[in-house]
Amino acid sequence: MENTQEKKDRVLSMIQPTSVPTLGNYLGALKNWADMSKDNDCLFAVADLHAITVRQEPAKLRKQSLEMYALLLALGLDPEKNIVFVQSQVPQHSQLGWILNCYTQFGEASRMTQFKDKSEKHADNVNVGLFSYPTLMAADILLYQADYVPVGADQKQHLEITRDIAERFNGIYSPTFTVPKPYIGKLGAKVMSLQDPTKKMSKSDANPKASVFVLDKPDDIVKKFKSAVTDSEACVRYAEGKDGINNLMGIYSCCTGKSFEEIEKDFDGKGYGDFKLAVAESILAEVKPVQEKFNEIVSDKAYIEKCAKEGAEKASYLANKTLTKVMKKVGFWQVK
Ligand code: TYM
Repeated sequence: MENTQEKKDRVLSMIQPTSVPTLGNYLGALKNWADMSKDNDCLFAVADLHAITVRQEPAKLRKQSLEMYALLLALGLDPEKNIVFVQSQVPQHSQLGWILNCYTQFGEASRMTQFKDKSEKHADNVNVGLFSYPTLMAADILLYQADYVPVGADQKQHLEITRDIAERFNGIYSPTFTVPKPYIGKLGAKVMSLQDPTKKMSKSDANPKASVFVLDKPDDIVKKFKSAVTDSEACVRYAEGKDGINNLMGIYSCCTGKSFEEIEKDFDGKGYGDFKLAVAESILAEVKPVQEKFNEIVSDKAYIEKCAKEGAEKASYLANKTLTKVMKKVGFWQVK
């Protein structure tokens, strides 16, 4: 993704406003968004259409969407340089999503592990939207001809189906969509729960100590790390079977840039207590400035709304170019 040439790479990613982002969202995705936003042509969005595949409380969803948008600004995603928007405010996503449903096989959508997991978790509401979730995600990406999509490892399969849909459509008609590549960081791609390090850290974990949230109070962040599940060896080293320590080392490495060998050396002879505290402090150094900025802008609703409105207009302009081409190719009668 070196931009020596004139044309910058187009980067797109989104996050659901179903809660405050976790450390997993932050290290797996948001931190990379902020880095990539410096030299690429970027679009970032709040995926509220995806959020309603699980039942949401309307007032809470509205508030969380605004706050997620404010948090994206607080992360340093400059709305003048990047397009930062809310998915439902750009109707082309739903429009292309429908069309792509008709170019996706039932069998391939059925293989999505996230669909299987969420169907189990929300057995009382296995709706069609949950099933067609990946085609809407494909629409999000393909509408903007994105070259790269920075995501955590859990979204890899959705990127693969997006590539398959794009190639299929391009093959049936003629080149229409850029075939996007996932950008999955070497570190932080799968941050695990602090209470069960064999499980992914998730926004919806029932155990409040399992997930750290970007807007958690500093004291709470320290407490959560102190109670992180580890092992009885009392030796900071990366090894099979030491899931808790491996997870903490991954987090620490992501925040400090230190390699695992350096970490092992630094903590040689020290106990887990010291290490957990160091990990918590490395996180605080990352999130404190974001929290300060967030608190500064979140009450300025007029500013946030202005940015969202302009973001949606810019996104819609680009999205329309692709959608118009697609509608023509599939044979819709278009009147001028
Ligand atoms: P969402 O909202 O679940 O998560 C946002 C991002 O955070 C990453 N992530 C993690 N990374 C590392 N460790 C974890 N424990 C962890 N948990 C979550 C996710 O991989 C994601 O990158 N379907 C997407 C939202 C979406 C999207 C898109 C993404 C909608 N349209 C188009 C990219 C492009 C989702 O539910 O992310």
